[in-house]
Amino acid sequence: FGLERRVDTLLREYKSRKPMNRGSFPDIAFSRSSSSGSIATDEGLFEQQELQTPTSGVMEKIIRRRSLQLRNRQHAWQESDEGREMQEFRRSLPSYKERDALLTMISQNQVVVISGETGCGKTTQVPQYILESEIESGRGSLCSIICTQPRRISAMAVSERVAAERGEKVGESVGYKVRLEGMKGRDTRLLFCTTGILLRRLLVDRNLKGVTHVVVDEIHERGMNEDFLLIVLKDLLPRRPELRLILMSATLNAELFSSYFGGAPMIHIPGFTYPVQTHFLEDVLEMTRYRLTSYNQVDDYGQDKMWKTQKQGVRKRKSRIAFVVEDALEAANFKEYSPQTRDSLSCWNPDSIGFNLIENILCHICKKERPGAVLVFMTGWDDINALKDQLQAHPFLGDQSKVLILPCHGSMASSEQRLIFNKPEDGVRKIVLATNMAETSITINDVVFVVDCGKAKESSYDALNNTPCLLPSWISKAAARQRRGRAGRLQPGECYRLYPKCVYDAFADYQLPELLRTPLQSLCLQIKSLQLGSISEFLSRALQSPELLSVQNAVEYLKIIGALDEKENLTVLGHHLSMLPVEPKLGKMLILGAMFHCLDPVLTVVAGLSVRDPFLMPLDKKDLAESAKSQFAARYYSDHLALVRAYEGWKEAEREQSGYEYCWKNFLSAQTLKAIDSLRKQFFSLLMDTGLLDDDPTACNEWSHDEHFVRAVICAGLYPGICSVLNKEKSVSLKTMEDGPVLLYSNSVNGKESRIPYPWLVFNEKVKVNSVFLRDSTAISDSVLLLFGGNITRGGLDGHLKMLGGYLEFFMRPALAEIYLILKRELEELIQNK
Ligand code: CDP
Ligand code: MG
Repeated sequence: FGLERRVDTLLREYKSRKPMNRGSFPDIAFSRSSSSGSIATDEGLFEQQELQTPTSGVMEKIIRRRSLQLRNRQHAWQESDEGREMQEFRRSLPSYKERDALLTMISQNQVVVISGETGCGKTTQVPQYILESEIESGRGSLCSIICTQPRRISAMAVSERVAAERGEKVGESVGYKVRLEGMKGRDTRLLFCTTGILLRRLLVDRNLKGVTHVVVDEIHERGMNEDFLLIVLKDLLPRRPELRLILMSATLNAELFSSYFGGAPMIHIPGFTYPVQTHFLEDVLEMTRYRLTSYNQVDDYGQDKMWKTQKQGVRKRKSRIAFVVEDALEAANFKEYSPQTRDSLSCWNPDSIGFNLIENILCHICKKERPGAVLVFMTGWDDINALKDQLQAHPFLGDQSKVLILPCHGSMASSEQRLIFNKPEDGVRKIVLATNMAETSITINDVVFVVDCGKAKESSYDALNNTPCLLPSWISKAAARQRRGRAGRLQPGECYRLYPKCVYDAFADYQLPELLRTPLQSLCLQIKSLQLGSISEFLSRALQSPELLSVQNAVEYLKIIGALDEKENLTVLGHHLSMLPVEPKLGKMLILGAMFHCLDPVLTVVAGLSVRDPFLMPLDKKDLAESAKSQFAARYYSDHLALVRAYEGWKEAEREQSGYEYCWKNFLSAQTLKAIDSLRKQFFSLLMDTGLLDDDPTACNEWSHDEHFVRAVICAGLYPGICSVLNKEKSVSLKTMEDGPVLLYSNSVNGKESRIPYPWLVFNEKVKVNSVFLRDSTAISDSVLLLFGGNITRGGLDGHLKMLGGYLEFFMRPALAEIYLILKRELEELIQNK
């Protein structure tokens, strides 16, 4: 397909290419798996940067005037009635007693570690104390405080709260910035942002010029970005002696952080929480059994019509629950549990029996307990939705005049999220179903009952097999205590743990830091682009360093895709990739899409992969939804091309004002498509900045209609994510080199095929659940793999041959290996001659 001509022109163009536009590094993020970062290009977080070094008397005057304005505004608010009321509330928080001590400590030390129970007033108060005292002392317009949050929702919610406490709107002195969204103004002095945003900021501005205070919140969570940020900041501190670093943690492991920063002073905010009574599974079973027997004997739930007519069913249910629980307890040998038999824990799976158990305990609370909201900790979005459906079908819990069931999840719209903070009407029981994000970063004040399933979905990384896993696993003791604490905010509470005491005793004290359980590719690329030296040396300075093997895998991957050369230096490609707000492989797709002039569809694929899947799969209409999706993929054997067609169809429908019907008919999420749409635009302008697009923008779509080109670019991006296809009689068997047999997710369009007329699939992601599953795949031909699989610049093509040749040999395709040799020779000649 005109490839030679293209290679020819490319090589010619390459020589005459103008140097890259390095000036405008965008403010960008990673991928959909990372909650933080920002896509929006940033014109600088703080405008007063230029004002930092007053060069003339005029500047000084402006600074003085703005500082004065800030102070006057602060005084006016503090003296107003509303302001007084707010002050009173703020003074009631435990952190207020430590206010002066905190401020003195911060002024006298470069690093301070603050710990205190959730809700004591760290996030909303500490940055605000700093801001207030700076404004008070007339330095208002010179201070610039950045407070990082691990999650978008908390950055947004907290800035709103702090602005309200200051009698302002968000965007005045207090602002926020998260991926794709932000609100800040000329006078913004306190900015809540995700950790990813600050990391990206460091790309442009290694010394954080103009920033006076960095507050890193929720460090106890030990997220990868936070751990990474701490290494960078530790290096930065000697260069910026006046910069203040404040670390805030919800648990008492402050010593760890303090000693990391050479014995930085610690301060603990003694919090007050009401006592919370803990019920382990044993007690919970007693209660729910009581509930079931009492139903049979006294009929005290007589109002549940359905239950009355289905007594038989209830009896069956009871015996099933009792049976399953007892059986599981016995199987896992809990009575004699010891850490050595840790594996036996996996027999005990609350997910399989948990729903009925949760339903029972919720009935018990609603009917027998005092008023107060219930917070249920679940493992993930699927669980939350499934449980919500089950509860809503329940004769009592489904009665909306008595029970209000609210899911709470990071990917919900902010308006929906706000509902969970509101107080329900009298007589209505609020039940919030949440993931572990409700552990520390958000606070629902009226919670009195906590139901804790004991598990959280934890991403982990199997370095030996180089495979990411996402499995529900047991939480730590610290997390369990944290969950329990959520019940005692305003009055004594109750915590129902759906696991036996002996299981709790075996929990780890703290969760393993994320750095030790995730693939490190994006991180390694970032280390290189921030010029932080040798990757392994840099990471060895982390609070807890990742395994050497994980680092090696990541570096090797970056070499395979051509982002790093053999000496671990950033290549031109790597340099471009580090500036794009997506995982390296998606960045590579973007760049190749631009170079091979099929940009439009590639933009859609990359945007789709970095937001989330727009194809909806409602459980009750799964078949319909799947067939709608497969229509888009007809003949293509590609989830990515299905997405491209769905998106294009939607754009067309939008033009005819029928976007909504189109989505409805095809089981697509309009919201996600809109997000994809806006992301595409941003990617396009980022590509413009890199100087990779021709001056004539239509040129980059010369081949966009040609599915082969798009397939080839997808292959180039996703390689080495490749698996071989073997068509059997009635089914397809798939195999990768590292894992052996693998399966496709059922919502992949290729998952339903009984024959795939291509020898290979490239895939975006594989996840180990019980077997290894592939997500989002595209079928490709031999020639595409030969020409686009891998990195022909690596080691003068030899490295590439070794890699690809290894694949071809492994999959017993010697003929291809030979063709490959010929092609390689020709290509080498071609390159030499030019
Ligand atoms: O960060 P930490 O967990 O220590 O507490 P915080 O988030 O600063 O919250 C302190 C107090 O502010 C909470 O106990 C709530 O009473 C209140 N708050 C609120 O009313 N609304 C919010 N959106 C956030 C906090
Ligand atoms: Mg907090």
